[in-house]
Amino acid sequence: MTAAVRKRDLLRVTDLARAECDALFTLAAELKDALRAGKPRPILRGKTLAMIFEKPSLRTRISFETGMTQLGGHAIYLAPADIRLGERETVADIARTLARVVDLIVARTFLHGVLVELAERADVPVVNGLTDLHHPCQVLADLFTLRERRKPLDEMRVAFVGDGNNVVHSWLEAATLYRFTFALACPKGYEPDPAILAECRAKGATLEITHDVGDAVHNADVVYTDVWTSMGQEKEAAARRAQFAAYQVNERVMRHAARDALVMHCLPAHRGEEISESVLEGPQSVVFDQAENRLHVQKALMAWLAQESAR
Ligand code: CP
Ligand code: NVA
Repeated sequence: MTAAVRKRDLLRVTDLARAECDALFTLAAELKDALRAGKPRPILRGKTLAMIFEKPSLRTRISFETGMTQLGGHAIYLAPADIRLGERETVADIARTLARVVDLIVARTFLHGVLVELAERADVPVVNGLTDLHHPCQVLADLFTLRERRKPLDEMRVAFVGDGNNVVHSWLEAATLYRFTFALACPKGYEPDPAILAECRAKGATLEITHDVGDAVHNADVVYTDVWTSMGQEKEAAARRAQFAAYQVNERVMRHAARDALVMHCLPAHRGEEISESVLEGPQSVVFDQAENRLHVQKALMAWLAQESAR
């Protein structure tokens, strides 16, 4: 790649314009159909993806790695102990080394700032595979899943019950691209980052933050939840279990939602904590569609980023 090329990264949902997001979903649908027809498209033949993980992963790892294989490329998984970001060597040195050798980087880091530094120092596209602040690939796959299920992205009401965490931050940003209403019910003290909230409101997002689950879920078209304790917060698990006890998505809560509401969870799930077994396994749940769609949407994302950054 020449220095004159402006490469694109996907560090947060708002790195995409709405039209780009729409185009991404169109490509993801084409790639999904092609795969199902037994004709995967090797559009990244000869390309290599480096995958840096500071935290565990099932879905993110398998979807990026399998996606790259299906696109004709290769993926290298770098586990936490392999490169020890910022410890064995600096983030900047790792970024510049990787950019000399590979074509794309996906990273799952604790601090969002580490990912930003990686992206600033690597002149190849960098994708956020989850940080403490954002999980854009998850929410892009979720929106794609809702689009497949014919939910109107500009009109629906999405209720999120639980922690104002990384997944919520990506939903807040998604509400600046599409005109849905996003309502979060969380315990006091677990609201989203105020700066992200203010930024998204300033961009016109319709966002409701409440401590009342019934209020948030009232007439919702989508009821979403995530773990009460995110990766890296394990020491707070007992305190969080007590504070979030009233924030479980269960059949009683679902009675507030629209009759045809979909239940979403990014997984991994803790049955009996943030969601009941019956709702997670019930007919309204689309959690495994979400998991599968990580593959299709990220394939589209990698193909698009490689193409954009090669102009
Ligand atoms: N939803 C998600 O990102 O799952 P993993 O943590 O298993 O990658
Ligand atoms: N909020 C969760 C999401 C896991 C996919 C976490 O950060 O652990």
